[in-house]
Amino acid sequence: MATTATTGTTGTTQTAGSPGAGTAAGQQSPGAQQAPTAKQAQRNQRARPPAPPGGGGFLRTLWGSTIGKKVVMAVSGLVMLAYLVAHMLGNLKVFFGPGEMNGYAHWLRTFGEPVLHYEWFLWVVRVVLLAAVVLHGVSAYQLSRRDIAARPVKYQHKRQRTSYATRTMRWGGIILTLFIVWHLLDLTTGTVNPRGQSGHPYENIVAAFRTWYANVIYIVAMLAVGLHIRHGFWSAAQTLGVTKPGTARVLKATSNVLALVLTLGFLSVPLGVMTGVVN
Ligand code: HEM
Repeated sequence: MATTATTGTTGTTQTAGSPGAGTAAGQQSPGAQQAPTAKQAQRNQRARPPAPPGGGGFLRTLWGSTIGKKVVMAVSGLVMLAYLVAHMLGNLKVFFGPGEMNGYAHWLRTFGEPVLHYEWFLWVVRVVLLAAVVLHGVSAYQLSRRDIAARPVKYQHKRQRTSYATRTMRWGGIILTLFIVWHLLDLTTGTVNPRGQSGHPYENIVAAFRTWYANVIYIVAMLAVGLHIRHGFWSAAQTLGVTKPGTARVLKATSNVLALVLTLGFLSVPLGVMTGVVN
């Protein structure tokens, strides 16, 4: 499937840009034979996309190819994974009381001072994360469109053609996108949080997980995070070519351990509030 899509894209570029294509058109079309050479050259020039300056050509070719989009997905996924590991570990501060948790949130905002200003570090993290989310989502969407387009027509309306892993990843991605919107409104802006007190994440977390709906939302989302990472990490390793016969087992085990540790680590916070360990 992937090869068909890539070949299709490459084929289009070659037809439009190669001088051979222009000559062939000139030989076949009687209209083109009568046209002056300068006009024909002008037409050929218009058909050829302008050469992008510097490394733009490489980046454009990479983004245009199926393997390039998969590399973008893998790298952006790993960036988000690194954030999730740090975020999960930071969240565990909640078990050490409000002083530690709120102090940690304050440290995140003053990190790098006096070289950086207040919240600058956090804003750099936010911009990198946003870029990773957008690139990951757009490449996932475009790859799935190519996947559908490359299928033989007779299979197009059969739902069973996508694998269990593919369907889980797509649904997981949608659930996580919706969760992130809720989560930001809950614990970053405080809009949907029952307390929503800026600078007091500990109190906001406790207030959120005292409601049944927050527990349901977070538990479903954390299970989706686990499943997404389990398959996503393994897929990224394959795309980036680090899987060899000897390392495949280790990488699969790493995917499972990462998924389990992150899911349990994140889940421990709502469970801590529900059981009264955090209050
Ligand atoms: C039970 C699980 C989680 C808890 C208790 C939690 C807690 C928090 C808290 C308290 C904040 C605000 C931090 C602050 O303002 O200093 C925050 C921000 C954030 N969380 Fe979570 N989080 C959880 C899971 C997740 C997951 C699974 C993701 C991603 C899929 C995520 C992504 C984010 C993002 C992107 C921010 C915004 C950071 C910023 O302010 O720029 N969180 N989280």
